Amino acid sequence: MLEKIKETAQFLMAAQKTKPQVGIILGTGLGGLVKEIDIEKTIPYGEIPNFPVSTVEGHQGQLIFGTIKGKPVMAMQGRFHYYEGYTMQQVTFPVRVMKLMGIEQLIVSNASGGLNPDFKVGDIMIIDDHINMFGTNPLLGKNMAELGPRFPDMSQPYSHELIKRANAIAKKEGIELKQGVYVGTAGPTFETPAEYKNFRIIGGDAVGMSTVPEVIVARHMGMTCFGVSIITDSGVPGQIVEISHEEVQQVAAAAEPNMTRVIAELVNTL
Ligand code: HPA
Repeated sequence: MLEKIKETAQFLMAAQKTKPQVGIILGTGLGGLVKEIDIEKTIPYGEIPNFPVSTVEGHQGQLIFGTIKGKPVMAMQGRFHYYEGYTMQQVTFPVRVMKLMGIEQLIVSNASGGLNPDFKVGDIMIIDDHINMFGTNPLLGKNMAELGPRFPDMSQPYSHELIKRANAIAKKEGIELKQGVYVGTAGPTFETPAEYKNFRIIGGDAVGMSTVPEVIVARHMGMTCFGVSIITDSGVPGQIVEISHEEVQQVAAAAEPNMTRVIAELVNTL
């Protein structure tokens, strides 16, 4: 596995000129950030050795190298979800590669169902902690000791410093941000009313189907993480209505300009 990660990292280092400093996973709601990137090079996942290929609707698959406000970034346009049938190792492979390329900061976004009754559909939530409800963990198995410890600390999964900066940026820009705990589940079913209630009771503010595996692996390797989530539907009792992937995409698209502004400014501080 480590050999494959190294091979891919070497391929990508040789394939473009600027050494990326920040890794970005352009999940739902952050697609617009591409417009903020001065693109130097794009590489379709299919052309990258050892990379899985993304299949889900609304997610293209390519790596984008370039700069945001002068900061060199590597952005994943399209991520790998566990529900697509990839293993946890495949889902988190690109994050491993980022670290071996020298990237120390990871920014992720996603869409989620709101559990906190103070949240509205369309709100943007800074992820300040998570609960892993995938029923598995990407670090199961032999530890890659060259990359991180057997029992990684998770006391600060999402950087307090970056959360502080993002809140300050949002305040200056007049953008309202919520903050809370993201529950990560395998999916692909959205939650039943009883499941939404359960995730609220255990301490969640939002629930979605991504991000937790990538952040676990990033923290294993000591990377600094920042995550945001767009609340695309409500899991609050009395507000639950039928939802579809299309509606999730639509709500996320509406929140995208504000999300993009905050992230672009945040990258500028890194
Ligand atoms: N549940 C899980 N994942 C989601 C949801 C949800 O309600 N909305 C968007 N992604």
